[in-house]
Amino acid sequence: PASTAEHHRGDLEVGGVPLTEVAERFGTPVYVLDEAEVRERCRTYRHAFPEAEVLYAAKAFLCRAMVHWMDEEGLGLDVCSAGELELAVTTGFPPDRIVLHGNAKSPRDLETALRLGVGRIVIDSPSEIARLAAAVGPEGHQKVMVRVVPGISAGGHEKIRTGTEDQKFGLSIADGYAQHAIGRILDQPQLELTGLHCHLGSQITSVKPYLLAVRRMVGLMARLHEQHGLVLTELDLGGGHGVAYRPGEQALDLTALARKVRAELSEACAAAGLPVPRLIIEPGRAIAGPSGIALYHVLSVKRTGDHTFVAVDGGMSDNPRPALYGVRYAPRLIGRHSTAPTTPVTVVGRHCEAGDVLATDVQLPDDVHPGDLLAVPVAGAYHLSMASGYNMVGRPPVVAVRDGHARLLVRRESLDDIRSRDVGL
Ligand code: LLP
Repeated sequence: PASTAEHHRGDLEVGGVPLTEVAERFGTPVYVLDEAEVRERCRTYRHAFPEAEVLYAAKAFLCRAMVHWMDEEGLGLDVCSAGELELAVTTGFPPDRIVLHGNAKSPRDLETALRLGVGRIVIDSPSEIARLAAAVGPEGHQKVMVRVVPGISAGGHEKIRTGTEDQKFGLSIADGYAQHAIGRILDQPQLELTGLHCHLGSQITSVKPYLLAVRRMVGLMARLHEQHGLVLTELDLGGGHGVAYRPGEQALDLTALARKVRAELSEACAAAGLPVPRLIIEPGRAIAGPSGIALYHVLSVKRTGDHTFVAVDGGMSDNPRPALYGVRYAPRLIGRHSTAPTTPVTVVGRHCEAGDVLATDVQLPDDVHPGDLLAVPVAGAYHLSMASGYNMVGRPPVVAVRDGHARLLVRRESLDDIRSRDVGL
């Protein structure tokens, strides 16, 4: 994070708080969230896209403090379950600034969305239209968007590419499913179609796929205008903005994205004779990811013929990303300064799987030993939100740091928490 400062004796300070202090006070593994960094990233978006509605994608990481910060920074929220939605609204977030997504929304998701008055619901399948219309009722009114498959391949890993035809999200333009669904939505007077949505994928580091998406989406808008006389006022291009996980990696350039998307959108709309719709974007990772750091203690160091394995007190239960997407992190030793020569090691977790590998080829000093503290940067998105109960180790806490103070946002999951759910024999 921007507010990170190297400290004497190899410590690292974030938000004015030495990370060793956080580890000591709250134990490890622990996730540290730099509040100033989160807010700064929100402001960067608002600044780069002043004309757009910026929705934070809650799936990246949500807790009540995040909800509060997003509200204060003027962002909306993208949620994809009743759980995320309830947390946001009960924390005081205005429901009309929330958009509900999901390829398979449960009855509870829809009921909660309608009860709480969610701003827009993004329709993702034909069967959802009748279900939603019935739930809204003939006297009711609900704004909706349609999730469209633009037929674009983009994203950091095959499992997080959602713009192509051969995956479960959205309705295809190429096959005519999107057009057909839109026709049916227009037949439902209680559903007001405000715009189109697409989400290409995640961890995208190039602007190009977004420009192609703009062209395809405006192309569809033009056809809808011709066919139905429909003028849609919103275009939601989803999220997916990539971040740098390791030194040398490139993040998506948000200023370039904003400038080029804006130009492409004006040009495409002018050519189609359509007014420029209001742009919506849904970044998750780019706000939460680089704002979080995970801290682990080393539990064991094992040297085999070819490898040195440095095992930490967390792993795939708090960060499933390496196992799922084969990504690698860049942990570093903090809290002491070593003059020992470094060799490449493999940093592994504590779970009972050989695939529980956090990082490979990490240069750590040869005197690395149990009790050492490792910091893993860019740990704020899709770690804890995807954490599991594997091996019953309990999910780590989240601590916010700001102006030299650390405060607990989410407490550690205790063995009592785990035991208390086990109610049968
Ligand atoms: N909007 C929609 C409709 C989405 O499905 C997503 C992410 C986003 C926005 C936010 O995307 P972001 O800006 O965070 O890339 N677990 C994976 C990422 C899955 C993303 C799912 N959808 C990972 O750890 O890489």
